[in-house]
Amino acid sequence: MSFAFPTAAPGSEWWRSAVIYQIYPRSFADASGDGVGDLRGIESRLDSLAELGIDAIWLSPFMVSPQKDAGYDVADYRDVDPLFGTLADFDELLASAHEREIRLIVDLVPNHSSDQHVWFQAALAAAPGSPERARYIFRDGKGADGELPPNNWESVFGGPAWTRITNADGTPGQWYLHLFDSSQPDFDWTNEEVRAEFRSVLRFWLDRGADGFRVDVAHGMIKAAGLPDYTPPTDAASMGGAEPVPYWGQDGVHEIYRDWHTVLAEYAGDRVLCAEAWLPTNEETALWVRPDEMHQAFNFNYMYAAWSAAGQRESIETSIAAFNGVGAPSTWVLSNHDVVRHATRLALTIDNPQGEGIGPKTPGPRPDAALGLRRARAATSLMLALPGSSYLYQGEELGLPEVIDLPDEARQDPSFFRTNGERYGRDGCRVPIPWEADAPAFGFNDTGASWLPQPAEFADFSRATETGAADSTLELYKRLLAERAARSLGTETLEWLDRGTDVLAFHTGDVEVVTNFGPAPVSVDASRVILSSEPLTDGALPTDTTVWLTA
Ligand code: BGC
Repeated sequence: MSFAFPTAAPGSEWWRSAVIYQIYPRSFADASGDGVGDLRGIESRLDSLAELGIDAIWLSPFMVSPQKDAGYDVADYRDVDPLFGTLADFDELLASAHEREIRLIVDLVPNHSSDQHVWFQAALAAAPGSPERARYIFRDGKGADGELPPNNWESVFGGPAWTRITNADGTPGQWYLHLFDSSQPDFDWTNEEVRAEFRSVLRFWLDRGADGFRVDVAHGMIKAAGLPDYTPPTDAASMGGAEPVPYWGQDGVHEIYRDWHTVLAEYAGDRVLCAEAWLPTNEETALWVRPDEMHQAFNFNYMYAAWSAAGQRESIETSIAAFNGVGAPSTWVLSNHDVVRHATRLALTIDNPQGEGIGPKTPGPRPDAALGLRRARAATSLMLALPGSSYLYQGEELGLPEVIDLPDEARQDPSFFRTNGERYGRDGCRVPIPWEADAPAFGFNDTGASWLPQPAEFADFSRATETGAADSTLELYKRLLAERAARSLGTETLEWLDRGTDVLAFHTGDVEVVTNFGPAPVSVDASRVILSSEPLTDGALPTDTTVWLTA
């Protein structure tokens, strides 16, 4: 079944300036009432996304999965997990989104499958050296009896990146590689059978009308020949780090995306590939979006840019330069399902970065919620004026904070378990979002069930509470998106203005954007104000505030 997107003029390259909204299906809206969100829930809430003014949805994984890593462990790439619905529900959701002129991008997880995938089960049953094992990365162990892992690599979620299997006769067998949880074995992408399978998976969703793919761990699919030992520096980010890393950013990945580019190009309607590639610099990330590869790559360097005029300017400048250098738009992102929500993160300090999740026993002061929200509103107001495409994460339009007080028993992130609770992990940004203040589960469903407990403070952030409330974060986002669209801001260029060291100011299109990072108020001409992330005080821009002015 295929749906033509109504306004998809060939060559329009809509993705260059699109605002793309990430839905994390288990936490968006739950039609079945079992406590886990689902596709019919999403469909029932599409009007609120149309009102928000987004261009596209990125749907985190909804395919068949044992849910060991919230769906990033796929057991069947061509079907919907019953937890989320059916393929017919997907088709209906896609058609309903398209009716509202909202495109839909599917999350594809090609670096690894679930250990429940038929291929992995077949590999376990087959002998070493067999074609079944060759689809994954099986190796003999080191040591006299193969009792040591084949190399010293560590899983991103903590602990070793290798697990030893037990043979059918009960004897210990080979080891398999998993850069993530042991339930997520890595495919061997040097194997043509794996490549052919994924070309076919791409076509499966493209034929149904999907507008493209967000590609999970797009920097990890090729491992250095010989799988050499590697010890990351202690300060390296778990998904990035200084080059060369034998499992991140290997040159061989590019050939895969060139191949995928040609598959997408066969389809009408400007289908798009977006790389989740955690790389140390924008220059390296730009290699993923050369003209014959992917179309977009997440700009994680921007996500982590310091909250200061100099830090933001440096990040924006280097992003635009690097992506322009290969003819691609920059993307911008402040929150997603893997990081502390920016309404909380921006109140953290350099001494207290808490990058791997925040919980009740995290040492150091709690981030100041009011400060975080204020900065988040200023940051988003800045971001949505920038040239290029912006990604939003569900709930940020409500100003949702990270949920810090989740009890240990409720936590589900494998990184919490694999580090024995040392890292709280990502559950705090994944709590089901509030729709109404006084309904069961805050309107997430009508039974009150919720796979992660929602805090009482979510009542203040519900969509119903914020709708029509003049100062609410939701109304600010609607305003930002409406003005951005009316003024075609994402398609414009940017010219810096000098307003002093604590102030970031630039022209783009017919707008002047000013963010004040310093303590001293900055005078602005009130008659030129289009919108402001906080009210002006005595005609001046207070600290941690962004204003859009008519140029
Ligand atoms: C996803 C994570 C996931 C990991 C393994 C990512 O980067 O965004 O949520 O745990 O890949 O698939």
